[in-house]
Amino acid sequence: MGITVKFLPDDREAIAEPGEPLLTVADRAGVSIPTGCMMGSCHACEVDITDQNGDERTVCACITAVPTGPDPLEVNLAVDPSW
Ligand code: FES
Repeated sequence: MGITVKFLPDDREAIAEPGEPLLTVADRAGVSIPTGCMMGSCHACEVDITDQNGDERTVCACITAVPTGPDPLEVNLAVDPSW
């Protein structure tokens, strides 16, 4: 039993296990998230995820794992390029 992870704006989905790296899931969904350092410092891989309360939170995909909820989890790649 997994969580549906929905990648926006392309609207692609993959089933993921909690704890799985977000980049692995994105790959499986056929979504490519830009990366750089792969250790959480360059922020090239920033995405917004929507948590249980419906609040958006910006995270670095390279160091983020799939949380235990909500299901479906929305991951938005269209973050504002202000960095
Ligand atoms: S790739 Fe640099 S913060 Fe994720």
